[in-house]
Amino acid sequence: KFVTGKIEDVDLDVSDAVGLGALKPTVVKSSPISGQEPGTSGLRKKTKEFMSENYLNNFVQSVFDAVIAGGTNVSEGTLMIGGDGRYYNDKAIQTIIKMGVANGVKRFWIGKDGLLSTPAVSATIRERGPVWQKSFGAFILTASHNPGGPDEDFGIKYNTQNGGPAPEYLMQDTFANTKSIKNYKICSDFPEVDISEVGSTTVVSEDGSSSVVVEVIPSTQSHVALLKTIFDFDAIKALLDREDFTMVYDSMHGVNGPYSKTVFVDELGQPESVLTNHIPKDDFNGGHADPNLTYAKELVATMGLNSKGEKIDVTGPIPSFGAAADGDGDRNMILGTQFFVTPSDSLAVIVANANCIPFFRSQGGLKAVARSMPTSGAVDLVAKDLNLDFFETPTGWKFFGNLMDSKVIFKGKDYTPFICGEESFGTGSDHVREKDGIWAVLAWLNILAAHNPDASKPLVTVEDIVKQHWSKYGRNYYCRWDFEGMDKDGATAMMNKMRAESASNTGRTVGSYTISTADDFKYVDPVDGSVAQKQGIRFLMSDGSRIIFRLSGTAGSGATVRMYIEQYESEKLDLPVATALEELTKIALELCDIKTFCGTETPTVIT
Ligand code: G6P
Repeated sequence: KFVTGKIEDVDLDVSDAVGLGALKPTVVKSSPISGQEPGTSGLRKKTKEFMSENYLNNFVQSVFDAVIAGGTNVSEGTLMIGGDGRYYNDKAIQTIIKMGVANGVKRFWIGKDGLLSTPAVSATIRERGPVWQKSFGAFILTASHNPGGPDEDFGIKYNTQNGGPAPEYLMQDTFANTKSIKNYKICSDFPEVDISEVGSTTVVSEDGSSSVVVEVIPSTQSHVALLKTIFDFDAIKALLDREDFTMVYDSMHGVNGPYSKTVFVDELGQPESVLTNHIPKDDFNGGHADPNLTYAKELVATMGLNSKGEKIDVTGPIPSFGAAADGDGDRNMILGTQFFVTPSDSLAVIVANANCIPFFRSQGGLKAVARSMPTSGAVDLVAKDLNLDFFETPTGWKFFGNLMDSKVIFKGKDYTPFICGEESFGTGSDHVREKDGIWAVLAWLNILAAHNPDASKPLVTVEDIVKQHWSKYGRNYYCRWDFEGMDKDGATAMMNKMRAESASNTGRTVGSYTISTADDFKYVDPVDGSVAQKQGIRFLMSDGSRIIFRLSGTAGSGATVRMYIEQYESEKLDLPVATALEELTKIALELCDIKTFCGTETPTVIT
């Protein structure tokens, strides 16, 4: 009996699949493992849980089944696999290749050393290869900014052909499959692939009836090529070459290291000393690769600040520009000399200066912008001023994807070119379908370059640009308090209480503020009409100030309560943030009563 490497039916007896050799699939009995529901960004669990019997295999098979049932012919095109380099990436990659072959995949692209940043996956899906080779999807092995290592977190997510995270229905189908799985398919005899060298391996079945190609690709190639078409690299190089301009880019031992090296050293001719922590490590060197004032400690100190963003004394010169990336390279933090740019301000400044960037200029200028609901309203003012289409979405990058793909989904509604961002240190555009850390860094450098056309004139700094922005638009004082590791029941009860009291809170006076609306944010997607409920409790004050509460969708264990405070000022532009937000913060703590529900009102992180 002749069988090809693809099994259409799990009940098929493949014991007589003679002649397939290394391509011979085996059907292995398994049973459901509870808790495999993908969250905002795929499935994240403790590494040890992922390493336990059948855990990874069950999930991967459930994805394949959902993808194939959804109409994708996995035998055509390419499956891509890569990750942020965290512990267990290498083993997981080999397992996914073997399972991919058993499920019918004929061609793989694997990032060299197993590394592919999240934005690079998105770029590579969209850009690489002739039509017949194009990638139909990718497994990304990452738990983003969560710590890595045998005792920390591992994660896996699936991205589809548009380069963006799998749509909700695909993840729901996957989850349903995890609850009914009976077996998975694997080609146990498929050889281990050496992923440390770029090159191609072709494995042919013994009888020559079938073959599989595994290509190890340079991790940075497609993404960097794309970035070079977006930005003015000559102008950026001229800025970086100035005597009075210095920079440091901290990759926090995540996957961004090789990308920062290719861009800044190989392309822009800078010394390797502009990069720190750029060698990926499987435990991020024991750190928490999340670019914010608390976790990017080393960079923040180099830039002359403390974890509250206040100036500290530093001996020696401070760089003009500082940036950091997270574990999988999709987040960014931007700093000037002793100056922290909040992600919300960063978004507003990039939008206001989008025409400095060739990608936007060459398409006739920016068309639309979007921010997540808890992100400050700074960008709203720019959108209004520049007459751009504007969207306020729930937290989560996937909501931006629909807007970017509107042209494809609905003819005539084209919201591109498009810039979007979130307070959680994510910024990006429609060049890919993920947020893109190095894109944001290059955007800032391109903007700085445009503001500094003459090297003989004093440097216009990051701080100058942000302050000029505030003097034009006013300042949205903003901060986020995180309460990590809270008791889930307590945190949920707290949210429920605020939700239940929404109506009675509306119209109430609190201190010197009046609550004009208290509600739970609901979003109706303008492209496909889908509705997202319960996206965060909002207290909207009559003067435009806002207090918002959400439970994090990415917390590793327990619950993380996020409290967001914002106040707009048109004149007092130079107050310390804590002073400007003092009364609102006090009101916020009273409104939520976190002390009673969770036993503390001291945050673990302030950004
Ligand atoms: C991930 C998503 C972001 C989102 C963030 C929110 O990073 O990619 O789009 O903003 O999670 O995290 P949270 O913990 O606040 O739910």
